[in-house]
Amino acid sequence: MSKIPKRLKAAATAVTAAALVAVPLTFLSSGASAAEAHVDNPYAGAIQYVNPTWSASVEASAGRTTDTALAAKMRAIKNQPTAVWMDRISAIAGNADGNGLKYHLDQALAQKQGSTPLVLNLVIYNLPGRDCYALASNGELPATDAGLARYKTEYIDPIAALLSDAKYQNIRISATIEPDSLPNLITNSSEAACQQSAPYYRAGVKYALDKLHAIPNVYTYIDAAHSGWLGWPSNAAPAAKLFADVARTTTAGLASVDGFVTNTANTTPLVEPFLTNPTLQVGGAQVKSAKFYEWNDDFDEIDWTAHLYSLLVAEGFPASTGMLVDTSRNGWGGSARPTAVSTSTDLNTYVNQSRVDKRVHRGAWCNPLGAGIGERPQATPSGYTSSHLDAFVWIKPPGESDGASKEIANDQGKAFDRMCDPTFVSPKLSNQLTGATPDAPLAGQWFDAQFKTLVQNAYPAITTGPTPTPTVTPTPTVTPTPTPTPTVTPTPTPTVTPTPTPSVTPTPTTPPVGSCAVKYTANSWNTGFTGSVRITNTSSSALSSWKLTFSFASGQQVTQGWSAVWSQSGSAVTATNAAWNGTLGANGSVDIGFNGSHTGTNTAPTAFALNGQACTVS
Ligand code: GLC
Repeated sequence: MSKIPKRLKAAATAVTAAALVAVPLTFLSSGASAAEAHVDNPYAGAIQYVNPTWSASVEASAGRTTDTALAAKMRAIKNQPTAVWMDRISAIAGNADGNGLKYHLDQALAQKQGSTPLVLNLVIYNLPGRDCYALASNGELPATDAGLARYKTEYIDPIAALLSDAKYQNIRISATIEPDSLPNLITNSSEAACQQSAPYYRAGVKYALDKLHAIPNVYTYIDAAHSGWLGWPSNAAPAAKLFADVARTTTAGLASVDGFVTNTANTTPLVEPFLTNPTLQVGGAQVKSAKFYEWNDDFDEIDWTAHLYSLLVAEGFPASTGMLVDTSRNGWGGSARPTAVSTSTDLNTYVNQSRVDKRVHRGAWCNPLGAGIGERPQATPSGYTSSHLDAFVWIKPPGESDGASKEIANDQGKAFDRMCDPTFVSPKLSNQLTGATPDAPLAGQWFDAQFKTLVQNAYPAITTGPTPTPTVTPTPTVTPTPTPTPTVTPTPTPTVTPTPTPSVTPTPTTPPVGSCAVKYTANSWNTGFTGSVRITNTSSSALSSWKLTFSFASGQQVTQGWSAVWSQSGSAVTATNAAWNGTLGANGSVDIGFNGSHTGTNTAPTAFALNGQACTVS
């Protein structure tokens, strides 16, 4: 990526302006006598701002859980940088949900380490008629001229005034500009609310760019949705054109935009490691024609950023345009993550078994179950040259809800969107249940249950503490003999490696009764539930394939399963190993799960058997 300093002149002007107002002595003596030049990639060589309020929420969550391993993982990420959202006018001064912008800027100054640059991620999110295609994040300003006037004078102007304070001239501000707004004008212009909002989105984004770009230490990144939204050529090209059209209306034209940010608050994976060729033929058809991809070539955010970059440059944006990807919740780790490509010759089975993204549909955006924390924030991630990445960032603070799963009264304009209701079968998701996490609070509020699963399903997994380098291998090296005489109880010192995959637990205690053990847990709500099943092969020999059977109570039905091939006949449910997890060693475990519906009280299934042998159940 070229490194062209773009706004040397603007920076010089700002210094002059700052010198005209009475500059405090402390400022001059700090050595920061000149504002730095606007650089190509603000993240390069910089640290990012850690929001103390988010850290405190993480610490509180860690304090509440009785699972010490989980608490340790939470604490291991609590000092990661997350964005500060200006999600309404009162957020500027600070309100019941958080401290104001000045607080964060002052904290950022305190976090700055010498001359190392620091980037504060700030989200500009309050357009008139906000969130026109959904309800959960509807905003306080109506899509009217009066709403736009308030957006300018009561929202953008005060933010710009604070950011222009010379005191903060050496804090790099990365502004994510209005998530979902311009993308909604590409795909949802047939909706009355989006039609009403369209002129205000254009005018509001133009105004924000003009005001923010004029401040040399502010970097503007326009939200560009995600691959599962704009990836189709018929959406991507018009989106790049719209971005260019809006940018051209600003004073500085295309130069008012430093870059684009994708996947904001979404869970689309950075990479689908087992689905790399959209035109590969499986079962006589191209992979991209599978139901999950609906002919969209862009399977992940690396695809989308590379695709978008080339379109933007063709529209006239400079080669220095950089991409950010919000990786806060697109990890998709945990036991449901496939470890190899499927061997199925049925296209949809192949895609469903191979994809790490376990959503029911790529349009499922609200608190999706199974998602995990993704790549940690980092500058200029290597390996993705065509994507022109400036950084991985955490724009959506993990743990903050996307929307309430039921109606909750509030004074922020937020409404109830049934995409956040796990009992809702949505026409927008090919008539499937939403897969949203139950019992969700209002958008932006702390959602403890979701935070736990995000941490548990992190990918890359979260490691805790110093990596122990044990001199003595604590695992017994003796391979289990068919007649286990477990007299030797190896004293497993608790300092043993924090194994990311809790599969092989070397606890050779008493000889197993039967040949399998099942741990069943369910998370149920009105008429839906998610069942998780851990199967352990307690026999002394490995299995090369397995089949779990069990009985449902009446009214229970599997609607979607993962990590196995699921079928149901009456109350009899069968889960056969997937292509990639058929091998189950002695004492080995495998985790599988499903979404289901139920009527009446949701009771646990019975009669679990593995390859015909009854299992003990806990
Ligand atoms: C949502 C909310 C907003 C919140 C943000 C970050 O979009 O509407 O209030 O600040 O998420 O969690």
